[in-house]
Amino acid sequence: MFSIDRKDFGPNFTFGVATAAYQIEGGQGHGRGPSIWDSFSATPGNVHNGDTGINACNHFELWPQDLDLIRDGGFDAYRFSFAWPRLIPEGTGAVNQAGLDFYDRLIDGMLERGIKPYATLYHWDLPSSLQDKGGWMNRDIAGWFGDYAALVAENFGDRLTATATINEPWCVAFLSHYLGIHAPGYRDIRAAARAMHHVLYAHGTAIDALRANGAKNLGIVLNLEKSEAASDKPEDLAAMSMGDGIFNRWYLGGVLKGQYPEEVTNWLGDNLPKGYQNDMEVVSRPLDWLGINYYTRGIYKAGTEAGAPIEQVKGPLEKTDIGWEIYPKGLSDLLVRVSSDYTKIPLYVTENGMAEVEGNDDPRRVKYYDDHLKAVLAAREQGADVRGYFAWSLLDNFEWAEGYNKRFGIVHVDYATQKRTPKSSYRAFQGLLHNTR
Ligand code: NOJ
Repeated sequence: MFSIDRKDFGPNFTFGVATAAYQIEGGQGHGRGPSIWDSFSATPGNVHNGDTGINACNHFELWPQDLDLIRDGGFDAYRFSFAWPRLIPEGTGAVNQAGLDFYDRLIDGMLERGIKPYATLYHWDLPSSLQDKGGWMNRDIAGWFGDYAALVAENFGDRLTATATINEPWCVAFLSHYLGIHAPGYRDIRAAARAMHHVLYAHGTAIDALRANGAKNLGIVLNLEKSEAASDKPEDLAAMSMGDGIFNRWYLGGVLKGQYPEEVTNWLGDNLPKGYQNDMEVVSRPLDWLGINYYTRGIYKAGTEAGAPIEQVKGPLEKTDIGWEIYPKGLSDLLVRVSSDYTKIPLYVTENGMAEVEGNDDPRRVKYYDDHLKAVLAAREQGADVRGYFAWSLLDNFEWAEGYNKRFGIVHVDYATQKRTPKSSYRAFQGLLHNTR
């Protein structure tokens, strides 16, 4: 049971749950083209246990029961993503009718159940044919992504409550092209620099395409971490500022102010695409809302390896099953920071949640949600205009490089049988949202 009351959030606050296509859909075939996560996860060494998203939660077939769970939980909204290669198998050109039909059914299924659709265009499953042309390293991706955005707007725009362009651009760019942990698995500063700019240029281009084709209520979803320094030493404070620049200010500053942090552009130097400055107006197209995914804080110290300006250190707080510190105050601090330093547009917590060991009784997760929901209330009291909160995730699912080993669901999935079983955290939301506590 949660200690908070739905009334504390006011009548218009949106409660939802979130998922992403590659993590739950399965549904191979049906005209879906290959994505970079298919080949990345098929390559030994990239994903824990050699897991792939081939079957995932078979949401492609089981979506009616998943939507029933969302409705019965009392949630107002469902944040899901379109799989680009399901709609346009080669990334550009021919459209897959079976893909259009699937999302038609899914969106109509939400509307029939009184669930508001919050869509994301890109949650990491890039069509492989586009990776063959350089993917996010190629400036042309802005046009490819813009055309895909237009297709979504034309076909679904009038039924979507809100649309986000990119989920977690730091992961798309830095985690995937500098740290090499996500597909396509590059560890290359030039690849990263290009992806860091192109992902935001593509975002702005897609905003234009969505608007031109009648989609309403447009935003982007950033993953932000509370940045802290390992000590008060000047070199650690500088590392913290650099870490914050790469993780937070690159995206906040780019999207909301048309400006990248100077310490980061200095570090990237001429690895950045020439003339990127001319794109900043597109990068910072006005948005209707901003989504923030929050999980933990980042603690930085000066780098010890040659060429690495910063390092992250593990903190002392209690950790989730994926090793991330539980730090609800970081969520309030970030929401207040964004609203005082960057923007007054409505903010949504588009993801928050924790990995926990397998089991249907998850009291630590109940407390995690309770404490983070209180942190949202605290931020609202300090003036942050937070309009909604989405739990990550509805289901245990394919946790990227961690495979099926890390479970974030409020509903347990038995992957052998695909049986869904609500956990106590799901019941806690149900109690809050149906006011049956
Ligand atoms: C953020 C990502 O958007 C989502 O795909 C992932 O599963 C969660 N964080 C948990 O790591």
